[in-house]
Amino acid sequence: MTEIAKSTVAGAAPEGTNDAHSAARAVREMFTAIAPRYDLLNHVLSFNIDRMWWRRTARTFRTALARPDARVLDLCCGTGDMAFALQRQAGKGSLRILGADFSHAMLQRASAKSAAAHNGDIPGWIEADALSLPFPNRHFDLVTSAFGFRNLADYDAGLREIFRVLRPGGECGILDFGEPKGALGSLYRIYFKQILPRVGTVISGVRGPYAYLPASVERFPAPEEMVGRMKDAGFVEAAWTPYTFGIAGLYRGKKL
Ligand SMILES: C[S@@+](CC[C@H](N)C(=O)[O-])C[C@H]1O[C@@H](n2cnc3c(N)ncnc32)[C@H](O)[C@@H]1O
Repeated sequence: MTEIAKSTVAGAAPEGTNDAHSAARAVREMFTAIAPRYDLLNHVLSFNIDRMWWRRTARTFRTALARPDARVLDLCCGTGDMAFALQRQAGKGSLRILGADFSHAMLQRASAKSAAAHNGDIPGWIEADALSLPFPNRHFDLVTSAFGFRNLADYDAGLREIFRVLRPGGECGILDFGEPKGALGSLYRIYFKQILPRVGTVISGVRGPYAYLPASVERFPAPEEMVGRMKDAGFVEAAWTPYTFGIAGLYRGKKL
């Protein structure tokens, strides 16, 4: 056990939920409801910076992605943009990337985007719960998750499951939102808590998910705590790199 003080937070808990089961169901229903407008909203609300974050994450794992025999899993893949960025970084070759998500509607969008890409190197998609993956132990060389891990109903169980499916020497990368500090942080909080939920609600036509977003970021463990949880799950070289003043950041860890 590390020395980092742990909050009592176990995982995401959308409003009105009181256990892991109802939290997971609410998260799935929420993403299913916004799936048709998810990409548009993502790009509008992040001013397209999300594309840069996915690319930067993919570049970080260029060594693993350069190996044509590497097995790569992108968890909580949603409409697939992290998986596409990994595939682009890997370049043409036999490397196969798998995107997994438990929302069928999100996967349908991912699959439609693959079909539109018209090139042979497209990820495969699988409907699966990140807390109970249908893969054997020690299977993947790289597991990533972009803006999905924060939505899991049990963060420690999520880390244990990633660790289980990684091969020895395998790497994990979790990209997610953070809470920037200082004057910029104060300005950003106004945008994130006041403006974003309103714009998100108008464009998606769905009330709820875009108020849940800032609440879920606030609830998510701070970087030091999250790194401690990664170490507790067995990861070595666990570290956090802030992106764009800490608005987002990448957690990395390795399985020995
Ligand atoms: C904010 S979206 C992120 C999508 C994509 N990775 C991206 O960067 O745009 C979060 C995704 O996590 C998925 N998700 C949340 N909890 C999950 C779980 N337990 N198992 C599988 N997918 C989950 C949701 O269905 C949703 O598609």
